[in-house]
Amino acid sequence: MNTTIHPFDIEKLADMRAPVDFNQRNRLMPVEKNFKAQIAHITPLTDREKLFHIRILDAAERQRFTFLPGQFVMLEVPGFGEIPVSIAGDPSIRGYIELCIRKAGTVTGVLHSAQPGARVGIRGPFGTHFPMDQMVGSDVLLIAGGLGLAPLRAPIFHVTQNRPDYRNVHILYGTADPGQLLFDFEYKQWERIYGCDLRIIVERPDDGWTGQVGLITKLFDAIDVDPDDTYAIVCGPPVMFKFICNRLSDMGVPMHRIYVSLERRMHCGMGKCCRCNIGSTYTCIGGPVFDYWTVMNLKESI
Ligand SMILES: Cc1cc2nc3c(=O)[nH]c(=O)nc-3n(C[C@H](O)[C@H](O)[C@H](O)COP(=O)(O)OP(=O)(O)OC[C@H]3O[C@@H](n4cnc5c(N)ncnc54)[C@H](O)[C@@H]3O)c2cc1C
Ligand code: FES
Repeated sequence: MNTTIHPFDIEKLADMRAPVDFNQRNRLMPVEKNFKAQIAHITPLTDREKLFHIRILDAAERQRFTFLPGQFVMLEVPGFGEIPVSIAGDPSIRGYIELCIRKAGTVTGVLHSAQPGARVGIRGPFGTHFPMDQMVGSDVLLIAGGLGLAPLRAPIFHVTQNRPDYRNVHILYGTADPGQLLFDFEYKQWERIYGCDLRIIVERPDDGWTGQVGLITKLFDAIDVDPDDTYAIVCGPPVMFKFICNRLSDMGVPMHRIYVSLERRMHCGMGKCCRCNIGSTYTCIGGPVFDYWTVMNLKESI
């Protein structure tokens, strides 16, 4: 039986939509449970990344499955293993999970050759989230390097769908070259429909590139924020964090209002296997989202 639902079936998505409740501790969901799920659709993004639209099969479980921006799931590919992946989709849609996955090794390699309809398992959601509720009424800086746009996409969904709640929203995004840009089909929406200030930069332009060239920190030269009332979210490779967070600190944004997502190798996702610790902190339950003040106090975290 073919149970595939196209991800852009607007009527069905509308049925699954519900306001994101930051007070609801969805970490109390039965995280050891493995939800049976199916790859409903695959959108190729670049030569290394694909967006997997995953649907929990059981209707009641689907209704119960919610997540907060910044959380991740453990995705099981039967027979090959389980990997942690940030949820890149819209937090207001229940039971429908979008994962942007880079082909890196065994499990991700199998996923990249999978077809819609393939069965997978989902555990979670796990981890801490970006406190979008605390950012209401403030300027928000959303900053991503490379694959970092995957974990940043859920906060972008939240901010754009609740646009009147936030003041100026700046999205700064940098990649190595134009071929690595993720989600380029959404840029116009972010800018024109939701009034976000989107700035993109690449390190190595190709012949057709007419935008900015250089490192992501160059984008800060042109933006004007009120440091006393600004929150920042930074996602990307660890090497980027120090430069960006220092730059934000120099601009006067307090460390406790800068949030980063730290990734470590993970196995259980729930503080039991000791694979993901930084000192005495398990990144699977204490993180992956941390404020920069905490990060500065975690030895060798970045
Ligand atoms: C909280 C969290 C969120 C993540 N979100 C995403 C995401 O949204 N999209 C995405 O593509 N990837 C994400 N990752 C990384 C992803 O989990 C790894 O790429 C994946 O586990 C690799 O599995 P594999 O079997 O394909 O590779 P393996 O065969 O196990 O390894 C292949 C290569 O990948 C490296 N690698 C393995 N695990 C990790 C890891 N955890 N972090 C960095 N490098 C790793 C190995 O060092 C090796 O070089 C996330 C990791 C964490 C911890
Ligand atoms: S992944 Fe097992 S303790 Fe964090």
